Amino acid sequence: DKQGYDHFMLKEINEQPDVARRIMADRFTESDIDLGDIEEILAGDYKKVMITACGTAYHSGLIGRFLIEEFADIPVEVEVASELRYKKNFIDKNTLMIVVSQSGETADTLAALRLAKEKGARVVALTNSIGSSVDRESDASFQLMAGPEISVASTKAYVAMVLVFYLLSLKLGKLNDNISEARLKELIDDLKRLPYRIQETISEFAEISKEIAEAIKEYRSVFFIGRNIDYALALEGALKLKEISYIHAEAHPAGELKHGSLALIEDGVPVFAITTREKVAKKTLSNIEEVMARGGQVNLITAKNIEYDKIEVDNKLVLPEIDNIWSSVLAAIPLQLISYYTALELGRNIDKPRNLAKSVTVE
Ligand code: F6R
Repeated sequence: DKQGYDHFMLKEINEQPDVARRIMADRFTESDIDLGDIEEILAGDYKKVMITACGTAYHSGLIGRFLIEEFADIPVEVEVASELRYKKNFIDKNTLMIVVSQSGETADTLAALRLAKEKGARVVALTNSIGSSVDRESDASFQLMAGPEISVASTKAYVAMVLVFYLLSLKLGKLNDNISEARLKELIDDLKRLPYRIQETISEFAEISKEIAEAIKEYRSVFFIGRNIDYALALEGALKLKEISYIHAEAHPAGELKHGSLALIEDGVPVFAITTREKVAKKTLSNIEEVMARGGQVNLITAKNIEYDKIEVDNKLVLPEIDNIWSSVLAAIPLQLISYYTALELGRNIDKPRNLAKSVTVE
C-alpha cells in the first residue's frame, strides 16, 4: 500500500525520519551507546575491519570505513562482495567482518560472508530482513528496522545502514578509548535531533529537487563529485540517478576529474558537487571552478557552516544546521529526491526500473 504516495520510492523516502527514530530508540544512556549482544563481538581485539556488500549497501560501507577509521582508529577495508573471493583478502581470526545487505539474500554477499567465517573472522551483519540467510549465518546481526522496502531503488535502508555505521563506529571508538566521554555525549545529543533534521531536509528540498530534475532531464550524462565521505555520497547519488532515470551518471573523487573526465564537461553538462566535510570543502571548490570555467551546470550540496566567498553556482542546496559529522546522512536525501523527480519527469517506471531486481540471488 502506497499510503497516498504516487510511488513506493517517495513513500520510503518520507519514512526515513521514523526509521532513524526506530534505530536509535533505547540505544542511548547519557554518554554511551547500547548495542546489545553485538557489543561482545565489537569488544574483540581486531587488527582490521573488513566491510563487504553490493551496490547501495556497498556505498554505505564506504561511509562506514571513514567513520570507523575516524572514530575508532582501526584500519578498514571495503570490498564489493562479488570481488572479495577472487583476490587475496587477508581475512583471519583477527578480522572483524561487517556484512551489509538489505534483503539478506544477495548471493555474492552471502558467499563473502561464508568465506569470512571459514577463515575464522567474527561476522556482524547489518540487514533489514530478520531470518534471512545473512541474518542467520552471521555471528550477530544489527536489524536495520527500515520496514519492507518495495522500491527497487534503495532509500530508507541505505540511510538506516549509514546510521548504524555511525552507531557502530562510535561504540568501537568508545571501546578502544579513542573517543572521550564528553565528545560522545555531544554526539549523542546531536544524534537525538537527527530524525527531525532528516524530516526538515525532506520538506525543504522537495521543490528545488523538482526544478533541478527539470534542468537535468535532457542531458545524456551527469557527474557527481566529492572528496572523502562526500565521494561515497557521490557514488550513491550517481547510482540512484542512473538506475531509475536511465541517464548515464558517474561519480569521481573531485580531484580526479581533471585526470580524464573533465574532457566531457561542456556547456550545460550537469555536475553535482557535495561538500559536507569542512576539511576538504575548499579543495572541492577549486574543482567546481574547473567545471564552471567549462560551462558546466553546477549543483552544490553543502553544509550550513561551510562558507565560500565567491562561488556562484547554478543551484546551492544548504543542508539544515547540524554538526558536520551528520551532514552525510542529510546529504543523501536531496540526492534521492533529485533522482526521483528526474525519473518522474522522464516517465520512468520508478519502483521497478528495467533490468533490475530487488533481491539479487544469482552471482
Ligand atoms: C540500488 C540497490 C542495489 C542493492 C544491492 C544490494 O538502489 O538497491 O544496489 O543495494 O543489490 O542489495 P542488498 O542490500 O539486498 O544485499
